[in-house]
Amino acid sequence: MGQRIGIALIGLGTVGSGVVQILEDAVGRDMRLQSVDLVGVAVRDLSKPRTVQVKADLLTEDAFALIEKPEVSIVIEVMGGIEKPYALIRRALELGKHVVTANKALLARHGQELFALAKAHRVQIRYEAAVCGGIPVLQPLQQCFGANRVTSAIGIVNGTTNYILTQMAERSLAYSEALAEAQSLGYAEADPRADVDGNDAQEKIAILSSIAFRLPLPELDKIYREGISAIALGDVRYAQQLGFAIKVLAFAVRQQDGRIDLRVHPTLVPLEHPLSRVDGAFNAVVIEADPVGQIMFYGSGAGSGPTASAVVSDVINICAELAYPVQPVVVEAMDFPGYLPIEEIRTRFYIRLKALDLPGVIGHFGRIFGDHGVSLESIVQKNPHGDAAELVIITHNVQESQMRSALTEIREGTYLKEFCTAIRVLPEG
Ligand SMILES: NC(=O)c1ccc[n+]([C@@H]2O[C@H](COP(=O)([O-])OP(=O)(O)OC[C@H]3O[C@@H](n4cnc5c(N)ncnc54)[C@H](OP(=O)(O)O)[C@@H]3O)[C@@H](O)[C@H]2O)c1
Repeated sequence: MGQRIGIALIGLGTVGSGVVQILEDAVGRDMRLQSVDLVGVAVRDLSKPRTVQVKADLLTEDAFALIEKPEVSIVIEVMGGIEKPYALIRRALELGKHVVTANKALLARHGQELFALAKAHRVQIRYEAAVCGGIPVLQPLQQCFGANRVTSAIGIVNGTTNYILTQMAERSLAYSEALAEAQSLGYAEADPRADVDGNDAQEKIAILSSIAFRLPLPELDKIYREGISAIALGDVRYAQQLGFAIKVLAFAVRQQDGRIDLRVHPTLVPLEHPLSRVDGAFNAVVIEADPVGQIMFYGSGAGSGPTASAVVSDVINICAELAYPVQPVVVEAMDFPGYLPIEEIRTRFYIRLKALDLPGVIGHFGRIFGDHGVSLESIVQKNPHGDAAELVIITHNVQESQMRSALTEIREGTYLKEFCTAIRVLPEG
């Protein structure tokens, strides 16, 4: 057998345990795994019981000392967090070690700097697991789509929110009940904000878009973000009656003028669209590219085995390149005209509001929408109770800024009893 490749594994939690299971049982997998040696595994607490067996002399609480070992060629960072993994990965790259990480939160903030450092030290940094866990999407985009120009990547990239919305739709659970269930099943953290507020999806679409459009990573504040906590069971029900499922979609769409529209928010997806049928904790991304057309990636976006599958595939790719080095991809952004502000997007909207049940009320709202250039596809009065009427409205494509000004006038008007929800609908055409 040729050169041995030493691995330092930083973290032995959900993902790290899956990585050890694959490395310890290489038979039947890629031959290159048989030249890989686990040099050591860093954890936070040596006394903690483990779900996988690792020889005691491999375990350490000193991750920095581990990555310094000369026999380590590849550092796998699956510890999570930002500051410590940032320092560790920097040090590993400076030492000339290749790095594999699943850490989207870190990459979305410091990725560009780490990529430059990797290039300067002529080593690789790979991160397939950071977007959609077990679904191979970054590497295919980089390699198999090489002949294409990607026009859009739209996906369900957060399994927790998809699980919650699926339970609301299928079992009529209220948002709070579905969230509590997701927490008890381990799909949602005790502090669920990163998922339900859309931060996790924002980090993933930042990384995915940079690969899709061959651009440097966008700053996170360029990506509009909206979470799911305002979605009521009533919205899910009305959406179903109107022929839609509510999904949190992450959008990366190239405009005619070259600008890129990046955003994450709940979206009404027509039931005939393939993303409407991606349920539970699953993830999916639909890529549109020229000339290949539409391609959908679907699978497990998280979990020990699926995420470890992506991590180890990065290790194998590094092993392959150590044998036959290729030039690193150079990301150019020379003529890039920038990102599309949320006010300039064009989309349909679903609006639910409670109005005073008076004659002329529908005409009143219709006039306001018309004055702001918002054309309505349908307006339906639901469940009138007492002196309030619930109105459910679907618009045609409209510019976001026009919709916002119409909603401001509606909120200030006398006919409104309660403004409930505004959710974007997948645009027409
Ligand atoms: N879980 C998933 O399905 C998934 C999917 C995609 C991406 N990711 C990403 O993968 C990374 C790891 O996630 P995870 O779910 O595996 O996390 P986890 O279960 O919480 O495991 C973290 C591991 O890192 C170790 N650790 C923490 N701080 C450390 C330190 N200062 N020094 C050494 N070791 C330290 C912990 O040690 P102890 O065991 O001693 O506490 C633990 O073994 C995160 O960046 C996450 O975003 C996870």
